[in-house]
Amino acid sequence: MSHHSSLFDSYSIRRVRPPKNKIGTSAKHDSAISHVMGTATYVDDIAKPQGTLHLAVGKSSHAHARVLSMDLSAVRDADGVVDVLSFKDLPAQTDIGAVFDGEPLMVDDITEYVGQTLFVVVASSHRAAKKAATKAVVEYEPLPAVLSIDKALEQELFVRPSHFMKRGDAATALDNSPIRIEGHIHMRGQEHFYLEGQVSYVVPCDDGGLEVYTSSQHPSEVQQLVAEVTDLPFHAVNTVVRRMGGGFGGKETQAAAWACLCGIIAKRHNVPVSMRLDRQDDMVVTGKRHEFANRYEVGLDESGRILGVDMQLAGLCGYAPDLSDAIVDRAMFHCDNAYYYPAAHVAGHRCKTHTVSNTAYRGFGGPQGLMTAEYMMDHIAYTLGQDPLQVRLANLYQDGQSTHYGQTIEHFDLATIMTKLADDCDYDNRRQQILEANQKAAAEGSDKRLGLALTPVKFGISFTVQTLNQAGALVHIYTDGSIHLNHGGTEMGQGLYIKIAQIVANEFDVDLDTVKVSATRTDKVPNTSPTAASSGTDINGKAAQNACLSIKARILEFAAEHFDVAQEDIRFEKNHVYIGDKETLTFAEMIQLSYQNRISLSSTGYYKTPKIFYDRSKAWGRPFFYFALGAACAEVEIDTLTGEYKVLRCDVLHDAGQSINPAIDIGQIEGGFVQGMGWLTAEELIWNDKGKLASDSPANYKIPTAHDLPKQWNVKLYDRKNEEQTIYNSKAVGEPPFMLAASVWCALNNAVASLSDYKKNPELTMPATPEAVLKAVMRMQGTSWDLTTETDTDTIDSLVKGAEENSDLYNEKAMPQDVRHAKDIDPKEVEGKQTDDQPNAIEHPNVAGARGPAHSE
Ligand code: MTE
Ligand code: HPA
Ligand code: MOS
Repeated sequence: MSHHSSLFDSYSIRRVRPPKNKIGTSAKHDSAISHVMGTATYVDDIAKPQGTLHLAVGKSSHAHARVLSMDLSAVRDADGVVDVLSFKDLPAQTDIGAVFDGEPLMVDDITEYVGQTLFVVVASSHRAAKKAATKAVVEYEPLPAVLSIDKALEQELFVRPSHFMKRGDAATALDNSPIRIEGHIHMRGQEHFYLEGQVSYVVPCDDGGLEVYTSSQHPSEVQQLVAEVTDLPFHAVNTVVRRMGGGFGGKETQAAAWACLCGIIAKRHNVPVSMRLDRQDDMVVTGKRHEFANRYEVGLDESGRILGVDMQLAGLCGYAPDLSDAIVDRAMFHCDNAYYYPAAHVAGHRCKTHTVSNTAYRGFGGPQGLMTAEYMMDHIAYTLGQDPLQVRLANLYQDGQSTHYGQTIEHFDLATIMTKLADDCDYDNRRQQILEANQKAAAEGSDKRLGLALTPVKFGISFTVQTLNQAGALVHIYTDGSIHLNHGGTEMGQGLYIKIAQIVANEFDVDLDTVKVSATRTDKVPNTSPTAASSGTDINGKAAQNACLSIKARILEFAAEHFDVAQEDIRFEKNHVYIGDKETLTFAEMIQLSYQNRISLSSTGYYKTPKIFYDRSKAWGRPFFYFALGAACAEVEIDTLTGEYKVLRCDVLHDAGQSINPAIDIGQIEGGFVQGMGWLTAEELIWNDKGKLASDSPANYKIPTAHDLPKQWNVKLYDRKNEEQTIYNSKAVGEPPFMLAASVWCALNNAVASLSDYKKNPELTMPATPEAVLKAVMRMQGTSWDLTTETDTDTIDSLVKGAEENSDLYNEKAMPQDVRHAKDIDPKEVEGKQTDDQPNAIEHPNVAGARGPAHSE
């Protein structure tokens, strides 16, 4: 074959013209067409050789019990069964806890949730394995099961010690406040409902290693765990992830178990092994968003400004720690949302229950913290008879203040975003019209009421575990000028691959189709962090850019010498390389020439996030590189006779910094918003009193559909560059918009509040299903409906008040240092600090003026 490939010769590349699909333009998702055609390959679509074995698990039917005996003979005798394994057959490490131990691959003695793996069946087909698994005869000795946050708090049953954050003296501030309000809020969990369930396929290699195909947000962790459970060094296991059919956090840790089981069997039988969870199994055996029961006391001045806050957050973690420590921490970091608490005491409890171990889910505890603040804002407004938006604006952070964990608020545009949104969507007029319409409806005896709410989001960007804020990439340029890109991030539908390809194309100023992104593989880029915390583009994008910069530097050095021009006069522009005014080569010609002159055209790139630091022992630092901001305004109509409602209109203004791809970012905003609406209005996880999930299929668990979308919906990007030196000054976008859906819940709350002329807190629950709205309406109208809150506030109070001396909870070591007020601290000055300084801004000649239309209409 000639080294002159089609790309090298291509007319389009020889023409001098701006490259297609630059940074800031709405290039379509790289798999858009194959997604729609159904040709995109997911793990279960990989053609498997004959002889591939399939797995299914036998599941515990008790929440907490000792397994006295397991008779698996009928399982072994079932059609197609090749092998059956239980705990004692595990060859090496048996625990796959992601951060802390506590997650055995199979039950040894005691089962701790309904659905826990008791044994695994190996059979010739998926169906045969599933059928056989039901034939086990298991004898249990039931043990008392703890199934609720209340009971766990009462028994002080925790998966991890409680954590505290403190600024000033909240108790005194509360005592001295002219107005004091107390409340509590209970939030349910949420099923991930990714379209593709958990799945793995493991192929043994001829050298004893394993090739693992999995649907995981964390290929490196799967690699490490498969290696540990099969007793192999990490280098013998390679994990490959081309794409997921959605992850939403559910595949950050909980994809690993199935890959581990496949790995063990693949090694044991030396054949390829496949396993997938059908929907109902997936819903029962995998963890969900954490349910939370939160309580607050807030002290206010007469105008509604907050003087002090005491918050107790309690998350239902399930039987094992998983990521719950970091998740409850993130809830604590976000229990201020966007509001300044001059004095604050925040406690975060990690309740252990005999239910599946809950895990990451878009927002990672942040939504549960944020909703507490938003609920409190509504509570304040309706207690004082004020417009909730005014209460929100009056308490909004201002630049120079700091959070209750010591991070200084900088570049804080939220007031601008909120007022701009309010202007754009005509908030004041519409509020007036709605007040009048509701009065008229009341006078005329109509059942319809309208509600309006405008709520902000401030979301901290960075993993709160500092180590995870690093990434790697690998860029090769082949001699035809085509570019191959690999990085540590995974694609789950969010558009990470296309954004990073845009970055690489932009660095060389070549057409986007010059760049190909290949599947994420641990043998190409090692030791990667999960694709999570919305950091995918931020960290992998910078790593890819750094790889490009290394290659570019080599080419520049060579070209300067070769053509005898200054490096500064050589430009990569418009698919070409300009050598001063001496000569112009196509990009491909320049690559050829470099190759012939023995210039390396491949490089790794590495990045670690600067400026971040958090001393957990003091509950103090700057855990986030920056905050993503946004605001949404929702209008709803409720029917007070039935509780049914419609979202009539929603306006969103979201800050994605200088967007790399506005279409992808808007897609993330829309998708996150609807998913958040699902959590707050529709999705109801129900367990029975034995700890068995009752809402275990699409038939009894309702996620939002196209019918539930706002009837009128305007999504716009707040087009402003990130002041921090992120990749092209963009901002992370994956999780923050989820919390914009608070506006819908608050609008429903507002409609119900109209029944008391906005002078009483509606006590609307979450999710605000039509049933919940109806109950809140009837309570407002004086009909008694028991509040089915599962929060026993007395228990929490006794924990708070009595605890200081008698509980492990409040052990001295765990007490935070008193965080000082704004401006007077700089976490960088902390002794023993480990932050990296921010590098100087890189000038990007290819960015300016290339931005696309930044709105959804
Ligand atoms: N978008 C799609 N389509 N599918 C997903 O699974 N996961 C969300 C968000 N957007 C998700 C998604 C979550 S939980 C996170 S943390 C981010 O994407 C991760 O990707 P990013 O860091 O590249 O934004
Ligand atoms: N977000 C998401 N995933 C994580 C985090 C986080 O802050 N920390 C550890 N895993
Ligand atoms: Mo997202 S919850 O950080 O995977």
